[in-house]
Amino acid sequence: MSIVYDAAARTLTLNTRSSSYQMQIGPLGYLLHTYYGRRAEGDFGALHLPKDVGFSPNPHELAAGRGWSLDTMPQEFSGANAGDFRLHSLKAEREDGAWGADLRYVRHEILPGAYGLEGLPAALDPDGEAETLSVTLRDPALGLEVELLYGVYESRDLITRAARITNTGAGTLRLRKAASACLDLPFGDWDLIHFHGRHAMERQPERVPVLHGVQSIGSQRVESSHQHNPFVILCDRHATQDSGDCYGLMLVYSGSHLTQIERDQMDAVRVVTGIRDEDFTWTLGPGERFDTPQALLCFRHDGLNALSQHYHRFLREALCRSRFSRAPRPVLLNNWEATYFNFDREKILAIAKEAKELGAELFVLDDGWFGKRNDDRSSLGDWFVNEQKLAGGLEPLIRGVKDLGLQFGLWVEPEMVSEDSELYRAHPDWALTVPGRLPSLGRSQLALDLSRPEVSEWIYQTVAGLLRRYEIDYIKWDINRSLTDLYSPALPAGQQGELAHRCTLGIYRVLERLTAEFPQVLFEGCAGGGGRFDAGMLAYFPQIWCSDDTDPIERLTIQRGSSYGYPLSAMGAHVSASPNHQTGRRTPLDTRAVVAMAGGFGYELDPGKLSEEEKERIRAQIARFRRYADLLREGDYYRIGEEEDPADYAAWQVVSRERDESLLSLVLTHPSANPAPLHLRFRGLDPEARYTLRLELFDAYAPEAEIGEERVYTGSALLYAGFTFPRLFGDYPSAQIHLKKIAD
Ligand code: DGJ
Repeated sequence: MSIVYDAAARTLTLNTRSSSYQMQIGPLGYLLHTYYGRRAEGDFGALHLPKDVGFSPNPHELAAGRGWSLDTMPQEFSGANAGDFRLHSLKAEREDGAWGADLRYVRHEILPGAYGLEGLPAALDPDGEAETLSVTLRDPALGLEVELLYGVYESRDLITRAARITNTGAGTLRLRKAASACLDLPFGDWDLIHFHGRHAMERQPERVPVLHGVQSIGSQRVESSHQHNPFVILCDRHATQDSGDCYGLMLVYSGSHLTQIERDQMDAVRVVTGIRDEDFTWTLGPGERFDTPQALLCFRHDGLNALSQHYHRFLREALCRSRFSRAPRPVLLNNWEATYFNFDREKILAIAKEAKELGAELFVLDDGWFGKRNDDRSSLGDWFVNEQKLAGGLEPLIRGVKDLGLQFGLWVEPEMVSEDSELYRAHPDWALTVPGRLPSLGRSQLALDLSRPEVSEWIYQTVAGLLRRYEIDYIKWDINRSLTDLYSPALPAGQQGELAHRCTLGIYRVLERLTAEFPQVLFEGCAGGGGRFDAGMLAYFPQIWCSDDTDPIERLTIQRGSSYGYPLSAMGAHVSASPNHQTGRRTPLDTRAVVAMAGGFGYELDPGKLSEEEKERIRAQIARFRRYADLLREGDYYRIGEEEDPADYAAWQVVSRERDESLLSLVLTHPSANPAPLHLRFRGLDPEARYTLRLELFDAYAPEAEIGEERVYTGSALLYAGFTFPRLFGDYPSAQIHLKKIAD
């Protein structure tokens, strides 16, 4: 039993292998959060001593004692307008305008299995070990009940959380805030790590101290956004990649989100995460309920790498529904950076032929195949073939690709519409616009109103139609603008605040149906690169195009930042041409491959422009990737080095779960004239084992004698004494060290 109720102490404890999480039914039924941290047994209520704090109000019934305040005691799910001035988790408004939430315990239930959420992706129970705790709280005055849901995955050190709010009154209730989770950390000195960015430079880790006041991380773009990922880490000031207490909070949500971190007057920290509440409302009629998105909580006492590894496994194994999540993925070649919009059938088939000769398994036809799309100003919505470019339609092209022995993939962007399209001319009201105002354009396009069932039905039918008609093995599902002009004629005036969330529910509805009906299709998400790179999308898509920036040196930080929460197998990463199209930087071909292997490996270049020598190298890269594919997809990933932007090199390592194989990759980012020795220690190996070590250097000059043949090392030597690289020399050289355990 991972969930334990102690009737005497009135505690509910959730135990995972390495963590314990405890709440306690306190005075008047207020649900207190007593502990979350390293696994420990006991009643942690005594940690939180009531104290009379000036200007922190007392519940009326306890006023005589004056020592107990909602404003200072750690709360499991904070209310509003009832005595707790810190961050609120729930704000509801009655018909007469009375608002807030004063939540008190009513009952709890412990159930086997995982819980589901209405219209939202939620973690599954792949090993049959999950248990669910449901705790119901009530605010009788406002007429609402909140069911707090906890999914406990003992062996995975993961706890999922969500809230289900029901209107139990006779009138209408308006939700003004409905968070997924609240986490109070009354003691300690914490740093916040969050992942900010912009288009083509996503998920840059930033570590800052949690100071007094409120820090906010969020998006109002109705996509999780390039700018702020819905994942934060709170870690001990002294935590490193390999040591220290770390908490992760990750939203399984792809729309507008908000995570706030407050350090209060008593130095306690509260984190509240969920749907962004500014501009949000939700109307509940009597008996109606609202489910919040799920949040994934993880605590590790042993550093950031361990925290990441637990998220990686959980997303891959317990969240993603796709059969590809744990299966080998085809090495693809995508034509976007090879041709952009400028192609015809002959050109595409020529690229596909070369792709096959290089060893690729999947050819992906990107943007420009439909309507009369010759640039990005038209045709979104017209998902029928551009006969000018592809005379005779998609069939002969697909046949040509398949005859080469390749799988065929297709790009779509079905949530969007161009003003210059047949769809827009037929249904101008399907685009989000505020009546009387010209809508803002993003990449010359408008967004469809996915809150409308007829629109999401049309999207489903359109994509399902393509998948039924053509032999398509892979879909790249793109979205290339943030949503603005949020107004829907289909919603009553008082419910416009529901639109953003309804649009997100709309896309989930479509993806739920399509991925269930076409499980044989590999879906890759995309949003102008990584603008919707989140656990909500990863429930459906096993991989997401990580960034439109394919420069391998820039990718080092983008992929490293992404790795804090998301597995390598989720990060679409391609070898592209040099000089790079986004930065103009020249990099060696093999370094580009080393970096792309830390992701969903593929190519995005015109193979016709490669020399024979380059083609030979690519064949070798693909063969190398195939050798390591299972290890890279399923292994435990370690960031090597503490610095986010190491001055001289970037390094990472993947270790098989059995610790019998490992691959360490390194890219020299700043060669220097007289460098100090480049020395690293390995992670995750079996200290007792012996490993053969094979070092491969790419585009690096190094004295032959220092490279050597395969050598044998003990695990302890590599872990504790480490390894000194031969001197690497040149422009962005790279290296890979493969370790294989020697059988006893
Ligand atoms: C943005 C994507 O991120 C690119 O890879 C490419 O598919 C373009 N859209 C096509 O318009």
